[in-house]
Amino acid sequence: MSQYLKPPELYDGLRLHQNENTGGCSPRVLEALASLRADQIGFYPPYSAAVEACARYLGVTPEHLALTNGLDEGIMAIAVAHLRPLPGDLVPEAIVPEPAFEIFRFDTAVAGGRLVQVMPKADFAFPLDEVLAAVTPRTRVVYLTNPNNPTGVATPFGAIRTIARRVPKETLVFVDEAYAEFAGETFIPDLAAFPNVVVGRTFSKAFGLAGLRIGCLVGAPEALEPIQQAVPVYSVNIAAAVGVQAALADTAHLQRYLRQVAESKTLVYRACDRLGLKYWMSGANFVLVRAGDRTAELVQAAAERGIYIRDRSTEPGCAGCIRVSTGIVEHTRRFIEVMEEVLCAAE
Ligand SMILES: Cc1ncc(COP(=O)(O)O)c(C=O)c1O
Repeated sequence: MSQYLKPPELYDGLRLHQNENTGGCSPRVLEALASLRADQIGFYPPYSAAVEACARYLGVTPEHLALTNGLDEGIMAIAVAHLRPLPGDLVPEAIVPEPAFEIFRFDTAVAGGRLVQVMPKADFAFPLDEVLAAVTPRTRVVYLTNPNNPTGVATPFGAIRTIARRVPKETLVFVDEAYAEFAGETFIPDLAAFPNVVVGRTFSKAFGLAGLRIGCLVGAPEALEPIQQAVPVYSVNIAAAVGVQAALADTAHLQRYLRQVAESKTLVYRACDRLGLKYWMSGANFVLVRAGDRTAELVQAAAERGIYIRDRSTEPGCAGCIRVSTGIVEHTRRFIEVMEEVLCAAE
């Protein structure tokens, strides 16, 4: 089984390596957590208010939404529901266009499914023909991400629709929208026409709730039902259920972070232009940059200065690439200073 290697626990510096919101959550979330009562913590959590708030935010009715303990849990539940080999049946297959969020590979292996990787094309153009060619009668899940991680590149809606029409009727098309707030687009309005598509969302990124662990799956109730069977009944804790409502109520906090992300990305693009580095325009809160044969040196030098960035060199199509979170502008400026210092030094 391919092993998922969790990034090391680095909390003593500037964390720009896990696409987190380095500005943190809304102060309203802290207030909501502080006002939790002992009896609320003593009881198993109620979910209807949190489900309603999330459904309202995403423009669906509550029956079309399932809360999960982070989107990670939703992804694992999809694998458990659809990729377990059944006695006497063929091994189910999951198609993953690469490079992709590595959890797709890991969860496929945990469930016992067969991973079918589709390798990247030039400049990470979406490999629609190659994905369609990879579909077999055994395909049970197609994992898509828009915008993609680690590239930040968009997955065209036209490609998602074509895939959803061409897969076998038992196949689930999963559209991971962990970074949708930054891109400003979502496939959710299309779900009514595509009952075999489920969208995944998280409150870890734009809302800064990664430590609380809350996400959700959105789709037709019939598509959600088998997946929900694989989610423990009380997997979302009371702090997350209360915190997400407070986060959703503070739209000004969200908008401020989205503006910071947009400005940060422009700063990184300009710095890369000055340094002659290749990068990809990102719809997310991070940018993939090709530092070439100096990648390891850059990652190491940044870490020595207390700034953590992620070496993505081993991901398909990402040789010589780092991925850096582009959130709070002041944090981005600190990264750019280090990048310029390190990469200009030996030229
Ligand atoms: C594409 C993608 N999906 C899902 C997740 C996991 O989100 P959560 O924190 O809600 O588990 C991440 C986190 O980095 C991600 O990049």
